[in-house]
Amino acid sequence: MKELKYQFPSADCIIYPDASFEQLKTVVTGKLVVITDENVFAAHNEKFTGYTCIVVPAGEQYKNQATVDRIINELIAAKADRETFIAGVGGGVVTDMAGYAASVYMRGLSFGFVPTTILAMVDAAIGGKNGIDVGLYKNMVGIIRQPDFILYDVSLLQTLPDKEWINGFAEIIKHACIKDLAMFEMLEQHHWQNFKKDAVLLSALVEKNINIKAGVVLNDEFEKGERKLLNFGHTIGHAIENLYTLPHGHAVSIGMVMASVISEEINGFDSDDKERVTALLRSYGLPVSIDADNEKIMEVLLMDKKRTSDRINFILLDQVGKAIIQPIGITQLKDILEASF
Ligand SMILES: NC(=O)c1ccc[n+]([C@@H]2O[C@H](COP(=O)([O-])OP(=O)(O)OC[C@H]3O[C@@H](n4cnc5c(N)ncnc54)[C@H](O)[C@@H]3O)[C@@H](O)[C@H]2O)c1
Repeated sequence: MKELKYQFPSADCIIYPDASFEQLKTVVTGKLVVITDENVFAAHNEKFTGYTCIVVPAGEQYKNQATVDRIINELIAAKADRETFIAGVGGGVVTDMAGYAASVYMRGLSFGFVPTTILAMVDAAIGGKNGIDVGLYKNMVGIIRQPDFILYDVSLLQTLPDKEWINGFAEIIKHACIKDLAMFEMLEQHHWQNFKKDAVLLSALVEKNINIKAGVVLNDEFEKGERKLLNFGHTIGHAIENLYTLPHGHAVSIGMVMASVISEEINGFDSDDKERVTALLRSYGLPVSIDADNEKIMEVLLMDKKRTSDRINFILLDQVGKAIIQPIGITQLKDILEASF
């Protein structure tokens, strides 16, 4: 089993990129409680035999304090103590919530993740951000605390619904746009189904994305600079996601197209490259436009955490594979939205 050791400023994290679920037993030898959701539990029932499991309802609407309370009560019932290890096995909802519950129970237990969605494998499980939503406010409460390990078994993805594969590829394409022209070109040669069919191709892609996300976090664990680049497509994406209740990957995809148009307007991003970004997203089954109310988008953007008094920090593309942080005046942004969308 291959080991990648990341020494983040706050703590170390070992990544096992080519493991199998069964190796969880060798990675955690002491008392272990597994937190998963009902879909993952049902899809991989036999794998959980012999483990103490807390099974939560599936879906973003359960990533909240009520579910964390339930987890904590079940930990108490299972007599979990400071020596108990927590493993979050699931998509980003499970890993975010398991990491958070583990961090607050008895002032913090050690924890690790086995991500089971593309999105969790390439993004959510990596980097130490754990938290929950409060009403409509996503990730409003949380903590940055690194898991001890992240164990990858890409065969778990075979039961993932197609729409979740497509969602996850939005974040992969994001990584390519901001950091990796070669990966962008490789993605242009394939469809997501090729990766589903070919475990070797899939593992290589997942590992590339681990390196990109973990590499950014290594340089900037607490999001003072470079980590902000990971928000490419997310500023407008989050606004659309909230306003039109779209899946996250769909909203981010549209957000990336809009950010590419803004990049062309403000930063001279090449028009052909803008078309390439749009074409790649489309070829992975992601939407590239929406009939949205620009005024409503502006209203949500004005509430954005990345806003200063009269500017919003946007992530724009300089070239495919290279992103920059660019403050944009609110009036200028309004004008571009009106003129372009
Ligand atoms: N912490 C971070 O840095 C970070 C980064 C990005 C996203 N996130 C969070 O991640 C969450 C989204 O994660 P997600 O897209 O993985 O969603 P998710 O966890 O809701 O999983 C999507 C669906 O797939 C099901 N599922 C998961 N694995 C499966 C499998 N192997 N087989 C069958 N079904 C399976 C789940 O039950 C769920 O219904 C959001 O809450 C987002 O805020 C966190």
